[in-house]
Amino acid sequence: MSAAANNAVSGPDGRLWGGRFEEAPADALWRFTVDTSDRRLLAVDVAGSQAHVAMLRDVGLLDAAEHDALRSGLDAIAAEAAAGAFDFEPGDEDVHTAVERRLGELIGPVAGKLHTGRSRNDQVAFDLRLYLASAGRQRIEQLREMIAILADVAEQHADSIVAAYTHLQQAQAVPLGHQFLAYAWMLLRDKERLEQAIVRLEVSPLGAGAGAGSSLPLDPARVAERVGFPRYFDNSIDAVASRDFASEYVFVVAQCMVHLSRLAEELVLWSTSEFGWVTFADSHTTGSSALPHKKNPDIAELVRGKAASVLGDVMALLAVQKGLPLAYNRDLQEDKRSVFHADDTLSLALEALAGMVATATFHPAPPTAWVTALDLAETLVGRGVPFREAHAAVGALATRLVGEGRALDSVTVAELTAAHVGFEPDDLRCIDASGSVAARVSPGGGSPSSVHSQLEQLRTYLA
Ligand code: ARG
Repeated sequence: MSAAANNAVSGPDGRLWGGRFEEAPADALWRFTVDTSDRRLLAVDVAGSQAHVAMLRDVGLLDAAEHDALRSGLDAIAAEAAAGAFDFEPGDEDVHTAVERRLGELIGPVAGKLHTGRSRNDQVAFDLRLYLASAGRQRIEQLREMIAILADVAEQHADSIVAAYTHLQQAQAVPLGHQFLAYAWMLLRDKERLEQAIVRLEVSPLGAGAGAGSSLPLDPARVAERVGFPRYFDNSIDAVASRDFASEYVFVVAQCMVHLSRLAEELVLWSTSEFGWVTFADSHTTGSSALPHKKNPDIAELVRGKAASVLGDVMALLAVQKGLPLAYNRDLQEDKRSVFHADDTLSLALEALAGMVATATFHPAPPTAWVTALDLAETLVGRGVPFREAHAAVGALATRLVGEGRALDSVTVAELTAAHVGFEPDDLRCIDASGSVAARVSPGGGSPSSVHSQLEQLRTYLA
């Protein structure tokens, strides 16, 4: 019997693939090629192995005793992993090797049967898929929570009238709640995108082996079923070579970070003394080491700042794949850095920002009267005046008032009726932000009733 058959590991210093080698790996090779970031795949790696050995027994590649030995060893490793008591060793090339090494220590030579009909190539693709499917579900829960918080604040501010901005200039009056709901809808789409990404994640690559399948009677469908994946691969090369499932996940995460970053920017802006729309809780702001009066919105600033490197993760992950020949190449090991970094960042950002919004006090300032300029023009439109003519009349009135250093609400009846023959004295009423908001009837527009119907719709989708 060869050394390999006697032990789960083989080679001069115990490397898994050592049988082919007469020299031990150089330290520089080891330092360069070993990536310990995959250690967080330990639990999913063991779960995949548990499903794999069950399949091997079902198809007759393991007898019952062998299966039971492997299963008990894997269960013990799963328990060690759950207790944080699994010890990695410097000689472990990756998480897969570490598990096989540990299995050999626990159950002896029969551990050598674990890798039957399997390669680390299909194994690592599987691990990442299972990891992301579960991470994705956690992010979905966090998004659900964040959306619910935004909905609650929106409801509290369904009647708080503020300016909606275009070009950061006051444009039209809206309830503050309408602005919060804009973010809620963005995040709801991110949640949907994650749900759809999970459909493409839950495809098992196990059974693809190194890339071409196996001469052994493997049953990938059974493995998929045991891990709860609805499908398995159609093409073994595609199964081990492709990482579009990871690119898609990281894109969705990046898009979500961009949405959070925009919300964060809003919060920073609103918290300035110039805006004065929000006060953050002490627990969710930080102080200045130099300026005694300050409370800084650091969570929001860091959501904005950290979004930058997540955008980089999308690029890095795509770039890793772009020049690879089929099928597996070690380059793919780099996928995990981008995926973990992006996902961890989103998780922490959602947690921190949710707390910041939930504990904040919003006290928005009323808009200037200029936000009703369009309403004034639309009053004429309602009387049959072409919009362009109405726009010109109100525009000319605005030019005059601005020239005199006056606001729109200082206009007199005489000035208004002189601005266009279609104006009636009573139209002065239109120059009122809350009247403007209440009169807004277009579906999905910025009015209190729209805020309430959006809330109803949103909460139905969330339920
Ligand atoms: N650590 C490797 C990765 O993350 C696992 C697969 C290694 N496969 C191989 N043929 N060397 O991609």
